[in-house]
Amino acid sequence: MGKVLAVANQKGGVGKTTTAVNLAASIAAAEVPTLLIDIDPQANATSGSGVTLTEEAHSIYEVLIEHADIESTVIPSSMQYLDVVPSDINLVGTEVELIDVPERERVLYHALGSVRKKYDYIIIDCPPSLGLITLNALTASDAVVIPVQAEYYALEGLGQLLNTISIVRRHLNPTLDIEGVLLTMFDGRLRLSNQVMEEVKKYFKEKVFTTVIRRNVKISEAPSHGRPVILYDAQSIGTKDYMDLAYEIFKRDGLENFTVAEHSSIKKAQKDRDKKSDAGQGKTEKPSPEVYEPDADFEKSVNDILNESPEETLNMDGALPYENHQDASAPAPGDEQTDDQEKEL
Ligand SMILES: Nc1ncnc2c1ncn2[C@@H]1O[C@H](COP(=O)(O)OP(=O)(O)OP(=O)(O)O)[C@@H](O)[C@H]1O
Ligand SMILES: [Mg+2]
Repeated sequence: MGKVLAVANQKGGVGKTTTAVNLAASIAAAEVPTLLIDIDPQANATSGSGVTLTEEAHSIYEVLIEHADIESTVIPSSMQYLDVVPSDINLVGTEVELIDVPERERVLYHALGSVRKKYDYIIIDCPPSLGLITLNALTASDAVVIPVQAEYYALEGLGQLLNTISIVRRHLNPTLDIEGVLLTMFDGRLRLSNQVMEEVKKYFKEKVFTTVIRRNVKISEAPSHGRPVILYDAQSIGTKDYMDLAYEIFKRDGLENFTVAEHSSIKKAQKDRDKKSDAGQGKTEKPSPEVYEPDADFEKSVNDILNESPEETLNMDGALPYENHQDASAPAPGDEQTDDQEKEL
């Protein structure tokens, strides 16, 4: 049975997706069958792992809402031992759509049934919230990896996450463990980074991974090339740090005998990729993807909003957005307090 790890922290931009993609790729580089599940509507793990989505591709949305078999959503990546279940923007409405579903926190748990046997590790990239999607991930997981950015507010909000983990343990998944707290974007030259490390260790003690993910430009460049860092720059610090993380986890799980150095599957994936880009030379050459370019729909939406006259955004019949809006002149709930406050001032 595969081990399921959720990468979670409701704080945005702390390195969840980076960790999910690169940990999954590093485990797969050791020829250990790995599945990366993207359960964030932003779908950054999907694009960052470089899988090609066809028109017919299904996503985790269909699994959660339309009872699709998860195996029908699995897409192979360019690494032999890494498969991906993609996300898509439809997932945005899932929190609401799940509300009336029976056992709404266990939908992913039930859906994982068949793939648990096929993979040794299943890594889930969670969205930056503690809503139903993250609850589903925590309920379906054996353990949580908590990335914490080495910055001033590192510990802020972690209490809420721990509370949620404890609620999940009590009501949904009694064996949910904390795999570890992972310091990300660490810069050893900064006193702040070192202070954050001390603080995190003070609270989480042996639950802090020995491996620290250093700030490394290759890590941040790799997603724009649709690759885990190991395929983007195998010699980089980022590759080393995420390989170290994979090994730390292997060791705990008694799998320390894996060797990865100059692994054949990495070489093959790099060769395939180079072949592909050689074949594409001179055809549809794109500018170097240093900056994400929004598509035409995005440009249109922005233009529409900018060109909309303000009146159009008001509710023209004067109705208030509350259930009882017969008396449009009545103060809205909460308004009285605001008036009092104004008087006080
Ligand atoms: N070790 C690192 N070195 C340099 N840049 C990094 C590193 N880790 C993450 N980043 C960058 O930080 C940004 C945030 O990372 P990431 O998207 O992984 O965070 P996240 O927690 O998944 O965000 P969200 O909450 O929006 O899902 C990205 O631009 C990523 O490339
Ligand atoms: Mg993310």
